[in-house]
Amino acid sequence: MIKIKENNKNVAEFNLLYDSVGWGAYDNDISKKALDNTFYSISVYDDNEIIGYGRLIGDTICFLYIQDVMVKPEYQGNKIGTMIMNKLLEKISQIEQENSDLRVYLGASKNKEKFYEKFGFVKRIDADLGYGMILKR
Ligand SMILES: CC(C)(COP(=O)(O)OP(=O)(O)OC[C@H]1O[C@@H](n2cnc3c(N)ncnc32)[C@H](O)[C@@H]1OP(=O)(O)O)[C@@H](O)C(=O)NCCC(=O)NCCS
Repeated sequence: MIKIKENNKNVAEFNLLYDSVGWGAYDNDISKKALDNTFYSISVYDDNEIIGYGRLIGDTICFLYIQDVMVKPEYQGNKIGTMIMNKLLEKISQIEQENSDLRVYLGASKNKEKFYEKFGFVKRIDADLGYGMILKR
């Protein structure tokens, strides 16, 4: 049975998913700090097995970033990602009651833009804004 938990901070589950989608896993201490500093998250389970995750980070009132939306490969294509996004957007709607100017961002992985477009996200360039930028290492 598919279950959803809010604000679960299980490092092992987070790292397992991270690894499963090919992003590699962080050290446990790094993941723990990242999860401790996460504003809101959604974890999805098939019975007791973690199969999906997504989180919101940010200042909680003016700027929020959707981060780390990931679904275990064998469960992809079954609307689990949609379920995660809808729950994150529900939380975002609650914050919008407090601040209607809330800005919500995300950085799409390559070729994942179409997935996010389904939830109303547009490329910054199409909203007459500059490019999103990242510090190059
Ligand atoms: C991207 C991801 C979260 C989507 O989750 P999912 O559960 O497979 O997606 P869903 O089944 O909810 O798909 C919802 C819709 O998005 C579409 N979609 C999903 N992934 C897509 C992609 N890569 N490109 C285009 N469309 C995509 C689906 O076809 C579906 O369309 P429909 O509503 O017309 O049927 C998942 O594939 C994943 O975890 N990928 C690896 C990690 C990743 O890259 N995450 C994104 C980080 S920015």
